[in-house]
Amino acid sequence: VKITFITNDNEKVTLEAESGSVMELAVNNNIQGIDGDCGGVCSCATCHVHVDPLFFDKIGEATEIEKDMLELDDNVNEYSRLSCQLQITDDLDGVVLTVAK
Ligand code: FES
Repeated sequence: VKITFITNDNEKVTLEAESGSVMELAVNNNIQGIDGDCGGVCSCATCHVHVDPLFFDKIGEATEIEKDMLELDDNVNEYSRLSCQLQITDDLDGVVLTVAK
């Protein structure tokens, strides 16, 4: 599946992967602004992304634990997700994720 990131510099980077989490994909490919400091256990919010509204229904809302974490982030919006909580599946094909500042 193809996943496109829009970085803080407004650069578009499209990556391909079949499994793992979106955060891991981003970190492994040095996507700026995605640090994954907590290693993917939903406790740092350094993997915050805004999902393209067109895809948000497919991806779905954050879990409660994730929402609590996101609330601590100033740039949260209704399309916010923590990318470590997004598992790469066929459903994600073509998705566009903007890295949160
Ligand atoms: Fe820490 Fe996602 S990597 S919350």
